[in-house]
Amino acid sequence: MTDPAILIEGLRFAWKGHAPVLDVPSFRLARGERLFLRGPSGSGKSTLLGVIAGVLEADAGKVSVLGQDLAALSSSARDRMRADHLGVIFQMFNLVPYLSVVGNVTLPLKFSAARRKAVGGNADAEARRLLGRLGLTDDAMLDRRVSDLSVGQQQRVAAARALIGAPEIVIADEPTSALDTDARDRFIALLSEEAARTGAALLFVSHDASLARLFDRAVDLAEINRAGAIT
Ligand SMILES: Nc1ncnc2c1ncn2[C@@H]1O[C@H](COP(=O)(O)OP(=O)(O)O)[C@@H](O)[C@H]1O
Ligand SMILES: [Mg+2]
Repeated sequence: MTDPAILIEGLRFAWKGHAPVLDVPSFRLARGERLFLRGPSGSGKSTLLGVIAGVLEADAGKVSVLGQDLAALSSSARDRMRADHLGVIFQMFNLVPYLSVVGNVTLPLKFSAARRKAVGGNADAEARRLLGRLGLTDDAMLDRRVSDLSVGQQQRVAAARALIGAPEIVIADEPTSALDTDARDRFIALLSEEAARTGAALLFVSHDASLARLFDRAVDLAEINRAGAIT
């Protein structure tokens, strides 16, 4: 039996002192599936990703990642779960400015024996290979500080960092908002291709409904979330 990548049942979440943001009866992401989740700004997309990543704790309900109920894990086990099985691309990328391009990409390997093992001996070579597949092929660039790169280039670095060591789930939180349409579509195609190659499930979140066509399946957060339905 293979557990889905993500399974949510009866999830509720409210920020302290505020009305509920999430009331999600059920949501499922299959292994290897590439799903687009759309919702307007402020609708709870990043909050949902935080709950899935185990950074935020649900008030009620069950959130399982690869068959593991997050609430049943200690906080250190949750941290390990995240480091081993989740690659995350943040909206602002969250790269480490003083590290090189390659240094940023290999960072997740420092926190995960499982991902080190998946890469095998040569972490730098794997980082360069991934960066090349994502379109960063200029060798001189890869040893530069990441803060010297353009936004489009930094985005590829963030994607390579999420993919390295073949985590089962890759989560992307509006990573394309700073790009023009062509660059955006190309980036998503490459990200999607790499996720397919490693068999990773991809959960890609954005307010931009026009991106839906680039994915296996698209879901509107409003379809699965009963909180905030009446505005
Ligand atoms: N750290 C926080 N503390 C309190 N409220 C928050 C916090 N982060 C987000 N919110 C609120 O939760 C709601 C959903 O926000 P968010 O998940 O960031 O939406 P999205 O990612 O879809 O733009 C918003 O009303 C926002 O103001
Ligand atoms: Mg957000």
